[in-house]
Amino acid sequence: MKIDVLSLFPGMFSGVFEESIIKRAINEGKVSINIHNFRDFSLDPHNKVDDTPYGGGAGMVLTCQPIFDCVKNLREEDSIVILLTPDGEVYKQSKAYELSKCKHLIFICGHYEGFDERIRSICDLEISIGDYVLTGGEIASMAIIDSIVRLIPGVIEEESHVNDSFNDNLLDYPTYTKPRVYDGMEVPEVLVSGDHKKIAEWRKEESLKRTRERRPDLLD
Ligand code: ADE
Repeated sequence: MKIDVLSLFPGMFSGVFEESIIKRAINEGKVSINIHNFRDFSLDPHNKVDDTPYGGGAGMVLTCQPIFDCVKNLREEDSIVILLTPDGEVYKQSKAYELSKCKHLIFICGHYEGFDERIRSICDLEISIGDYVLTGGEIASMAIIDSIVRLIPGVIEEESHVNDSFNDNLLDYPTYTKPRVYDGMEVPEVLVSGDHKKIAEWRKEESLKRTRERRPDLLD
């Protein structure tokens, strides 16, 4: 998979993709991630990328030209262009699975007050990571990229994500490791019983119980 990210603040990404599972996926050639400063595409003599809003109001608005030209430069036949915005579709694990099957993703990170509405016309998808407003799309794109890359075949063991929260619309079941008793808290007996059928049933029940208690909306 190839991922391109358009951002005015490429420095925000350093470190995030240089550690742990994402770093290994890049090193093993399972994904390539490139960050592009769309300011480099500005035709303005001072490399301006924003301007005041028509109709008045606070803040600056990202202009079309640098983003249109940067996307034009990167787009291939099967690219999916994604705009990060609080008014996009709220991101879910099912979308992460869908996007993990794509060949090429282009993320556009807005910043400042907003972006010219016409930028939406070159996007295939608009995504929000939740009902709150960030200073820009950068952190949202990092969260989304992380969730996609771990689902690319071979990046982590498939068994690790088939039991993830949100698969089958259920939260994950509780897990424990050694020691068997910590600070008076014991590991449930069934998990040390060696009875795999019983363990599977217990896990399913606990998943359901946790989902009912914490996220009943997932069961609707
Ligand atoms: N940009 C600002 N806030 C955002 C959000 N919640 N999701 C995606 N992009 C954003």
